[in-house]
Amino acid sequence: MNRKRAIYVLLMACLVIAIGLSFYFYKKAQVDRLEITKATEPDNLPSYHFALIGEEMDHDYWRLVGEGAKDAEKKYDVFVEYEGPRRSNPEEQLKLLDQAIKAKVDGIIVQALTEDFLPMINKAVYQGIPVITIDTDAPESLRTTYIGTDNYLAGQIAGKTLVEDKKGQATVGIITGSFTNAHHQLRVEGFKNVVADIEGVEIVEIEESNITQVIAEEKTYEMLKNHPEIDALYGTSALDGIGMVHAAESLNRSSSIYMISFDTLPENMELLEQGKVDVLIGQKPYEMGYRSIELMLDIVKGRSVEEVNHTDATVVSQKNLDNFIPQERDEP
Ligand code: BGC
Repeated sequence: MNRKRAIYVLLMACLVIAIGLSFYFYKKAQVDRLEITKATEPDNLPSYHFALIGEEMDHDYWRLVGEGAKDAEKKYDVFVEYEGPRRSNPEEQLKLLDQAIKAKVDGIIVQALTEDFLPMINKAVYQGIPVITIDTDAPESLRTTYIGTDNYLAGQIAGKTLVEDKKGQATVGIITGSFTNAHHQLRVEGFKNVVADIEGVEIVEIEESNITQVIAEEKTYEMLKNHPEIDALYGTSALDGIGMVHAAESLNRSSSIYMISFDTLPENMELLEQGKVDVLIGQKPYEMGYRSIELMLDIVKGRSVEEVNHTDATVVSQKNLDNFIPQERDEP
């Protein structure tokens, strides 16, 4: 009798649990369906759709720009479509710009690498799409504002630092990413402007690396072979700095050549820590990405913005290395 009763109680308990579970899952499915519906309802889509077009996605610098923009996306009512060629390719960048215009996005943020970007930027503006330039400016275009380093000033800072560190005596070789890209041109011009006044400093050769580390290394190697008197190298990009070090090392001249280049990205910082690079000019890619979204929101909401928004260029060397906190991810 007791056994029969126990089986009966057990069966009843199973029945109650089964009913409970069915009810629970039925309710959960209803809630899930409601959430999916809510997320896809037009009312819940972000109010703004911005396109951000960078130079090369496969580079730490542009990853930081993207992280900044995506963090801003989390905070504001906006969807950021972040795109760019894998490796530097201005034609592909221009195509992406054209596609963004055709897609009628609410705003375009683009690095204006060369003069070819000007008509395309203006085309967007004529079609009612506001444009912000990032990292590299096109001041003659109809863009509303620029966010990024003052590249001419950064070149001057590099020149002044070299003159001070070398006590006004240096034979310099320059490796620049490109002769045609505006920001590289400005970094060279700013540098030249400073050293032109210094009698003991002479620039003997300038070569371009085509924004690749391999070519930067090849060009530095030839340069050092042709000019054994070179005792200082200036590189206008992160990749140039790395190529310069490798070339000097293969000629056993790394310790006798003063090296200054751009960006405080992990690989460049490592070379600085090892004493293979003397100075890095740091930029703020994360801040550029983040603030570009805030600026575009101001523009589309009709608020006024400054015509130029310069982010800081910092000098990092052995002298201040201990106090240097990588600032790229600083929220502005
Ligand atoms: C420049 C960027 C460039 C990056 C990688 C940075 O110094 O400001 O324009 O894409 O280096 O080459």
